[in-house]
Amino acid sequence: MTTDSTIKTEPGRRARSLPWSDDTMPLMLAPMQGLTNRALRALFIEWVRPDVVFTEFMRVSNVSRHRLRRSDLAEAASATAEVPLVAQLVGSNRQALVAAARSAEAAGARHINLNMGCPFGRMTSGAAGGAMLQHPALLAEIIPALRNAITGTFSVKLRAGYDDPGQIFSLLPLFTEADVDFLILHPRTVIQKYAETADHAITRRVVRESPLPVIANGDVRTAAAGLQILEETGAAGLMLGRGAIADPLLFDRLRNRSLSEPTAAESAVMLQHYLRQVLARYCELFCGDKQILDKLKNVLAFIDAPALAGPVSKMKRAVSISALVNQIEALG
Ligand SMILES: Cc1cc2nc3c(=O)[nH]c(=O)nc-3n(C[C@H](O)[C@H](O)[C@H](O)COP(=O)(O)O)c2cc1C
Repeated sequence: MTTDSTIKTEPGRRARSLPWSDDTMPLMLAPMQGLTNRALRALFIEWVRPDVVFTEFMRVSNVSRHRLRRSDLAEAASATAEVPLVAQLVGSNRQALVAAARSAEAAGARHINLNMGCPFGRMTSGAAGGAMLQHPALLAEIIPALRNAITGTFSVKLRAGYDDPGQIFSLLPLFTEADVDFLILHPRTVIQKYAETADHAITRRVVRESPLPVIANGDVRTAAAGLQILEETGAAGLMLGRGAIADPLLFDRLRNRSLSEPTAAESAVMLQHYLRQVLARYCELFCGDKQILDKLKNVLAFIDAPALAGPVSKMKRAVSISALVNQIEALG
């Protein structure tokens, strides 16, 4: 069972606490907007039990007195007893982020993460997400201010740089000095978006050069790839995004160090169980057939096993829940 842990650091420094226990190499479910809502997280927790889960990013308003929406505050506080939940903030203004972190903690969040990686557009007014990496002077104000404000764990999730994959190395002293609890690194640049492959040689160098625990993220699609990244980088753990949404059992294969990939028949059984579960949970969380279908199709967009291409393409075109249910049942 995963429990939070506190790691003692050198004298004079704050004891580091982490949302995973000392004897765990944590496998985390990545924050994914439009996907890792509380229903999907609950399914993952019951089925494959990630060691740590994240909310989707929560936009921090620079203008509203309420820096986070009420629904986001409820989400931040929605941890289950078993698996630590990290609330992720995306924003650009120091005071607003600090106020948002405080209100998330007041609502019950124990772990807070700052999104410094999202490559898409302006998610708030100002430079937020990956765009923050264009403003190192601003980061030098925001990171210590958040650290001082947050009483639970404070982590950052970032890309290797805005347009320079070596930028991360100039930021490491800031993270160490500010006493950030851990880093999650997706070693692509922001402008790269999802092109080419994640360069985990950068992760390896960051692990060597930073005293902070580093979680490796990016392009883990098979257990073999994940185990290789862990071995070659020395990372403290892995975060799984698209690979986990495509096949939640990737968590099991990694945990069991099972190198064989599922057969076509096993993938079909997995998908049938997965979609039955997602549909049942989405019918409770969301309202109306259209919203439920759209949300479920967000999941389908990531199912890329070649053996499932035919049925998945049909399901993506389903115009009613009953049509989708028929297709799910035809998988068996
Ligand atoms: C649809 C989608 C939504 C995402 N939403 C978020 C998000 O809310 N917060 C965040 O930090 N990263 C977000 N990401 C990035 C992922 O968390 C992850 O860093 C990235 O996909 C690389 O990991 P992967 O190769 O395992 O998918 C998102 C990625 C995708 C594809």
